[in-house]
Amino acid sequence: MNTILIKNIGQLIQVEQTPQKRVAGKAMSILPSIKNAFLFIEKGIIKDFGVMSECKYQNIETIDANGQMVFPSWCDSHTHIVYAGSREGEFVDRIKGLSYQEIAAKGGGILNSAKRLQNTNEDALYEQAMKRVEEVISLGTGAIEIKSGYGLTLDAELKMLRVAKKIKENTSLTIKTTFLGAHAIPMKFKDNRKAYLDLVCETMIPQVAAEGLADYCDVFCEKGFFTAEETDRVLTAGNRYGLKAKVHANQLSSDGGGIKIGVKNKAISVDHLEHVSNEEITLLKSSDTMPTLLPSASFFINVDYPPARKLIDAGLPVAIATDFNPGTTPSGNIPFLLSLSCIKMRMTPNEAINAATINGAYAMEIEQELGSICKGKIANVFIAKPMPSIDFLPYMFGSNLVDKVILKGKLVTC
Ligand code: NIG
Ligand code: FE
Repeated sequence: MNTILIKNIGQLIQVEQTPQKRVAGKAMSILPSIKNAFLFIEKGIIKDFGVMSECKYQNIETIDANGQMVFPSWCDSHTHIVYAGSREGEFVDRIKGLSYQEIAAKGGGILNSAKRLQNTNEDALYEQAMKRVEEVISLGTGAIEIKSGYGLTLDAELKMLRVAKKIKENTSLTIKTTFLGAHAIPMKFKDNRKAYLDLVCETMIPQVAAEGLADYCDVFCEKGFFTAEETDRVLTAGNRYGLKAKVHANQLSSDGGGIKIGVKNKAISVDHLEHVSNEEITLLKSSDTMPTLLPSASFFINVDYPPARKLIDAGLPVAIATDFNPGTTPSGNIPFLLSLSCIKMRMTPNEAINAATINGAYAMEIEQELGSICKGKIANVFIAKPMPSIDFLPYMFGSNLVDKVILKGKLVTC
């Protein structure tokens, strides 16, 4: 069906007349909406919306929202959703007292996932990832970024990115992909890290770019992983091949230099930011880089939460993303992320929703297509279960309040 009308919408959330690139500072608390609304979709695109009394569309396929709210789908700008197996053993090790870094230093962590992924074929990997993808769709996600980084060999990195490409071809999600070969130094290169960096910069990046498998290049800039200088080298090589920069910065320690190197390399986003200095805030303010916070990773490995309040109060924009991965966040649940953002980072519900929609879209450079209800944007929306207010969504932590999902104008059965 080419056209579809959603009628009797109790409240249509985050409507825009002109698309904004992102929202920052005080503007993050503004979430425009229309009560008693309709939404008209044609060929997968939002064509019109407004108050129900002015709805002129008749005799077309119609979904009656029965007074329920409609939201734009979530834009999850940081995931590692393609991975093999699971790591609940490390979860138990952490409960018993080991830190994330101690587990990684023993060959666990990312290297554990790399071993599993190298031994899993493309079809099995796709099947495992698709189960997670279907789950996040049912939780209201309409766009995701997917990183490589559990391959750590040329073949396995390409395998991961091909699986991401297949997900893109077989779902209605909007997907961006990121090459993260510099996620950890493989055991084999432990005493010759330069050789691994050569492989990443001189072989992997050119090959990934030649096959058109990634939009971005990311580095885990952190003590025990990659230094600021190494990060700079990888991001520079990525930029040379048209892969724009992203950085995992300041997750476990404060002096990794990832924010500075990210801004220097015109990163689309710098992600994690559990630790941020005043100088780094000033630097971010002078840039177009989106600070992206991943509070469900802090929750799961029990470390500090990013200082969202400080960033927003300084006038910065903030995006939130799940970081869905087997080590620090085995969850792609954005409604839970909203609750965490409000409870643990003192973001208001409106700020958290903006962070998971329009600002997440900006962090994937899809803000012209998604992230709000705006004429001309892709019709990725969800109808929420009956709720008394917007605030009820993060308040009901742990509940799934998504009733119906519509991707590219089509009702998805989840
Ligand atoms: O974003 N920090 C680096 N990468 C992931 C964790 C990877 C893992 O432990 O498997 C993250 O938290
Ligand atoms: Fe991550």
